[in-house]
Amino acid sequence: MQAVIDRGFCLKNPVKIIQLFGLDVFVGMLLSKDKTLLQRIAEKYQARRVPMPGAIGNAYKLSALFEFRVAHIYAAMAERFKSNPDVHRFFLDLRDEEMEHGRLMLACLYQIAVNREVEFVPSVRDQEMRESLNALREVEHRVPEMSLEEAFKVTNELEAGEVNVIFGRLLTQVGRAETELFAEQLKGAQSHPESVPRRIKELKARLGPDGLAAAA
Ligand SMILES: [Fe+2]
Ligand SMILES: [Fe+2]
Repeated sequence: MQAVIDRGFCLKNPVKIIQLFGLDVFVGMLLSKDKTLLQRIAEKYQARRVPMPGAIGNAYKLSALFEFRVAHIYAAMAERFKSNPDVHRFFLDLRDEEMEHGRLMLACLYQIAVNREVEFVPSVRDQEMRESLNALREVEHRVPEMSLEEAFKVTNELEAGEVNVIFGRLLTQVGRAETELFAEQLKGAQSHPESVPRRIKELKARLGPDGLAAAA
């Protein structure tokens, strides 16, 4: 499981994690490896906090929906190319990372303050948003027939597209220490618009022309 903030980070930064998310969350990370930090805090918030209502809350839910939909696409690609362990693993990693992004949007839903001024409130009622969701559904249906080259192309396009713009804008406007920690981590090596094209190139180089042909 590729986490935005992994167990290693939590163990190295106990004070920060306890201050931001509570001792219970830290102890949970310490005692078992089965959940990511985002899984733990999403559960905690669901039990104890009130999600942001109305249009702003719905904007975060919409972004989570986008991220989970992209996760489905990568899961389908992992299935499509499962005969090659390297390619299979690559798409499973992307799927796990998108699941984390979706969970982060759900965590934001509980962190954003009611009285906060927000500028960006995408809605599922916007024509553009509905079209994007339909386009993702359509991509997912095409996956079983895709060549590896096409799958890489679609992946690069997805990561350069508006799903990441929506995610990034919603994440920055939460303006809370909890989410800022995640935003900071995502800006590093894990930022998808930058890292995914590079990881595809590295994977292609590892496979070589013969490996690529065999996996396609
Ligand atoms: Fe994402
Ligand atoms: Fe992504």
